Amino acid sequence: MRAMVKIGNIELRNEPVFLAPLEDVTDHPFRVICKKYGADFMYTEFISSDALVREVKTIVKKMQLYPVERPIGIQIYGNQIDAMAEAALLAEELKPELIDINFGCPVRKIANKGSGAGMLRDIPKLLAITEAVVKAVKLPVTVKTRLGWDNESKIIVDLAEQLQDTGISALTIHGRTREQIYSGVADWTLIGEVKNNPRMKIPIIGNGDIDSGEKARQMFDRYGVDGIMIGRAAIGNPYIFREIRHYLDAGENLPSPTISERVSLLKELIEKSIEWKGLPGGILHTRRHMALNFKGLPDFRPLRIKMLRSNNKEELWGIFDEIEKRYSQSQ
Ligand SMILES: Cc1cc2nc3c(=O)[nH]c(=O)nc-3n(C[C@H](O)[C@H](O)[C@H](O)COP(=O)(O)O)c2cc1C
Repeated sequence: MRAMVKIGNIELRNEPVFLAPLEDVTDHPFRVICKKYGADFMYTEFISSDALVREVKTIVKKMQLYPVERPIGIQIYGNQIDAMAEAALLAEELKPELIDINFGCPVRKIANKGSGAGMLRDIPKLLAITEAVVKAVKLPVTVKTRLGWDNESKIIVDLAEQLQDTGISALTIHGRTREQIYSGVADWTLIGEVKNNPRMKIPIIGNGDIDSGEKARQMFDRYGVDGIMIGRAAIGNPYIFREIRHYLDAGENLPSPTISERVSLLKELIEKSIEWKGLPGGILHTRRHMALNFKGLPDFRPLRIKMLRSNNKEELWGIFDEIEKRYSQSQ
């Protein structure tokens, strides 16, 4: 059995499972649900340091944290040393457990401006930003990044050591380059190399393509990582945290969630989202979860279209009743 994982002064259980920061997905309502299903650590969506320094209202709301979500990290991104240090200080006032820096976002409008994964093209600045953030705050600082900018510059093994030297408390690595965006298959071999480098002391969290308990087990066993992080597989499917935990602890698969559970999960998420965003935003925002929550049901298309067109709660509840009636027997 592995030991507990420590990130700075934060103690996490052995083999912890992290919910990845996901823009427009991991907001407060979704985080509460993932926590309920067993996510051990979560993050806010990424927060632009420039917007934070200008106190843009929507940004401040994204950083509102609640006790039930703890332990939680606020993730910031940007390409200016001073703004990043100032943003980290502002984020610290909200008392997250840690500040995470995003050096991994591949989206063109961010990476091409030198933020997110764009920083992988300017390592001295990346390190200067990290050092400035570590110095600015008392909280532990962590970094989330990729293998490198492109196939010719997979620098993560050296970069991990350099990052550790700046004083960060943990490193998350997504096993792709910026150039790959989300294509191909995540390559975990370099994540394993970082972890097995005897000079590395901080926890290494592996990320990329984990979508089942079996895969989670494989990644821990093959690559020796301290934690794993789940992104896309959690969208519309927060049950993944319960399934992975069960597989890690008991070595067997849990049965899939029933239709009733899927329906009540969606109702809870929609209620919480309406509370959080109002109408119709709260409903529109959960559409991505609705679509994926019922993935794989036979002949579901007509109901799916109806469900995704509706922005009325009563109507949606009626559609859910219909789904429950139609598909409960087939389980
Ligand atoms: C819709 C979406 C939004 C994302 N937003 C963020 C973000 O705000 N911050 C971040 O570090 N990564 C972000 N990512 C990357 C994920 O955190 C994760 O690294 C990536 O999806 C790979 O993990 P997966 O294969 O488990 O999905 C995002 C990914 C997706 C698909």
